[in-house]
Amino acid sequence: MKVADIRRTFLKFYESKGHTIVASSPVVPGNDPTLLFTNAGMNQFKDVYLGFDHRPYKRATTSQKCIRAGGKHNDLDNVGYTARHHTFFEMLGNFSFGDYFKKDAIHFAWELLTEHFHLPPEKLWVTVYAEDQEAYDIWHKEVGIPADRIVRIGDNKGARYMSDNFWMMGDTGPCGPCSEIFYDHGPSVQGGPPGSPEEDGDRYMEIWNLVFMQFYRDEKGEMHKLPRPSIDTGMGLERIATVLQGVHSNYDIDLFKNLLAAAKAAVESVSTVPADINSPSLKVIADHIRACAFCVADGVVPGNEGRAYVLRRICRRALRHGYKLGARGPFFYKLVDAVRKEMGEAYPELMNHEIEKVIEAEERRFLQTLSKGMDILDAAIAENKTGVLPGDVVFKLHDTYGFPADLTADVCRERGISVNTAEFDAAMERQRAAARASAKFKMAQGLDYTGADTVFTGYETLTEKDAEVVALYANGEPVDRVEAGSECVVVFNRTPFYAESGGQVGDQGEAKNATAILKVLDTFRVKAAVTGLQCHVAEGHVAVGDKFDLAVDEARREATARNHSVTHLMHFALRTVLGDKVAQKGSLVTPESTRFDFSYGKPVTAEQIAEVERIVNAQILKNTPVQTRVLPIEEAKKTGAVMLFGERYGEVVRVLDIGKSTEFCGGTHVKATGDIGFFKVVSESGIAAGVRRIEAVTGMNALSWVQNTESLLAATAREFKAPVSEVPVKAADAIATIRTLEKGIDQLKSQMAAKAGDALIAEARDVKGVKVLLARLDGADAKALRETMDKVKDKLGSAVAVLASVTGEDRVQLAAGVTKDLTGRVKAGELAGFVAGLLGGKGGGKPDLAMAGGSDVKKLPEALEAARAWIEGKL
Ligand code: ALA
Repeated sequence: MKVADIRRTFLKFYESKGHTIVASSPVVPGNDPTLLFTNAGMNQFKDVYLGFDHRPYKRATTSQKCIRAGGKHNDLDNVGYTARHHTFFEMLGNFSFGDYFKKDAIHFAWELLTEHFHLPPEKLWVTVYAEDQEAYDIWHKEVGIPADRIVRIGDNKGARYMSDNFWMMGDTGPCGPCSEIFYDHGPSVQGGPPGSPEEDGDRYMEIWNLVFMQFYRDEKGEMHKLPRPSIDTGMGLERIATVLQGVHSNYDIDLFKNLLAAAKAAVESVSTVPADINSPSLKVIADHIRACAFCVADGVVPGNEGRAYVLRRICRRALRHGYKLGARGPFFYKLVDAVRKEMGEAYPELMNHEIEKVIEAEERRFLQTLSKGMDILDAAIAENKTGVLPGDVVFKLHDTYGFPADLTADVCRERGISVNTAEFDAAMERQRAAARASAKFKMAQGLDYTGADTVFTGYETLTEKDAEVVALYANGEPVDRVEAGSECVVVFNRTPFYAESGGQVGDQGEAKNATAILKVLDTFRVKAAVTGLQCHVAEGHVAVGDKFDLAVDEARREATARNHSVTHLMHFALRTVLGDKVAQKGSLVTPESTRFDFSYGKPVTAEQIAEVERIVNAQILKNTPVQTRVLPIEEAKKTGAVMLFGERYGEVVRVLDIGKSTEFCGGTHVKATGDIGFFKVVSESGIAAGVRRIEAVTGMNALSWVQNTESLLAATAREFKAPVSEVPVKAADAIATIRTLEKGIDQLKSQMAAKAGDALIAEARDVKGVKVLLARLDGADAKALRETMDKVKDKLGSAVAVLASVTGEDRVQLAAGVTKDLTGRVKAGELAGFVAGLLGGKGGGKPDLAMAGGSDVKKLPEALEAARAWIEGKL
């Protein structure tokens, strides 16, 4: 059975058992800060398990895109070297939300495996959590698995509930005991059954995990019962495919065979050596292209933080392995199409051809890093006298130039020197410690709060009298009292402060009473409906039970509201101008501006932006009041309001009517559109495949922007000594003049080189009947040297020449030339290499002309003399 058939059979089977087939959620989890990437099929249902979200179905089945390359389930370093680890994989799953439980889950799984996938029952083993007698009995008494093929596994990972048979999504989240199904590949493969000392071998392979979701694990590690026992299962599609296709390694299934062949061809297209189809490096590449293609398809772009950084690491790991195989140009992006061929039908997001562009851009960036890093490393190795490269150099290459440490180690190994890894590790540890220290300042998460929800009054008012401190935290720990000069997080029973969410930044302001002043620096959610104020205690102290008068910074809140309300109008206008396909992908609303990311395949033109500005400003001028309706979710949906894909909504939602737009929104807004003042788009750019970003400003910020732009233009006009209206023509004229002048300079340079060439002829000396010229032309660049060399050879007829030019403090440019009649005896490439070698550099080229460079300027006279002897020796 092909991978595609297995996927289809699974989903259809569960559909026949009353499950709704639900599409895979993106690899980037919507609105879940606890998770870097989607790592299991149940992620998109997390809130359904917790009872916060309700769906029209109680049974669901999915084939979910998963990435495990960071966070709790991290496989990155193993990938390529084992038969089963992947950064990206597909998880087939069936889910019950308070509907069926253990019994049906087990029977369904058994039926599918034995009757539809036709696996021989005697090849299947199962494990159960040691305390789970119920699951044991179902497998043994109802399904009929003999006791010697059922393994009980307890808390084998060092703490309560830490077990191979107790599944947790992450440090927090839904969890429960599980039962795993294993396939026995038979005695020809090494390894023992689960729970035995030899379990790590490949003989017994886990194919399916049935999780009996019963608990929620909180930040402190405490378990709370879920509202209703539920089911979550996960079967690795690649693994079941190995079983059904009778192979042992995931890389031998149809899908990976094709990807490996494509990887080999792509690498070889930019390499001079063949790539071994069995090399782990090729597997790394075949694996990583899936993770990269899906990440980019779901809107992640390589970068330096969070998900963007993980993507960059995965991508660069693949590129490094390509480099190892001999690839010297971009090849990785070419594999996107192979992934598309294999998986595009099941995942239409792969049809986007921007994916290639994003990956190719990252590849080109990395190639630059590689060549810069190689230069620095070459120099460090040349200077090195001890045979051990200092760890600080490795760290600097890694940290400053992004040049990977393992590549440094590889290069050093090739050159026969070792690396001081202890020093490198120490430098890395110092950096990590610094990062940890700075992370402490971000107090937003993991506060332990069990009290009542905060009453939020900030839609109606910006002040609150006598709010009571109900919890207080310093350095992440609950405390009773905090003194002046310190920072803390305060939870009040009532607050008008808006907590950062839905892209809108948290409020700032002040809390005061007779003896104390707290500066509120930021506001965030401690939990769904609990607001934390990050405060600096400016005077007095704050203690649990104290009462304060709260005041939100009004100007800041109003500026933020203007930008938030205009975001709705802009969203509406974009849909009007660009079409209904425009969907919000993200937004950041601050007092200064609004940043709006949305799906759209090509750049928005200046004319389209002007139209968006007209539509938005026309609605501002109408000055219509903003209407808020608080409705039960089902009724709210009927209003046709724009809902954000992947966003979670509660039972009751706020529907905002602003101008012609209607959206679900919990943010704070202006009273009437006229409050926005004036709207101006200030930039438009592409941030990922098919995702555009628009930044815009309102109110006084918009005025400042216009004034700044105007003064820039005025300053430019002054430089040109022309009225503003003539600036474009003047600028075009100036550029044309510069081009003409540049051409003139080039011509002059050639003429000077020719003249210099003439003068040089006289300096040539006769050696064994051949003219030998060794001369300096300081200041000449490579092009001038080459031209002069041509002239010299022409004039001298039969000659060997070296021309050298000092072009910088530690930079010598060399050209070596040999007339055709002599190339049998003297090779210009070797000559250039010889002279460059004496100057601490490298070089080479054709037998009649070669260019080279060196850095040891002081040795140049000596090197030229040595060249004369070298040439004589050859003649
Ligand atoms: N969520 C479970 C797993 O990932 C099924 O193994």
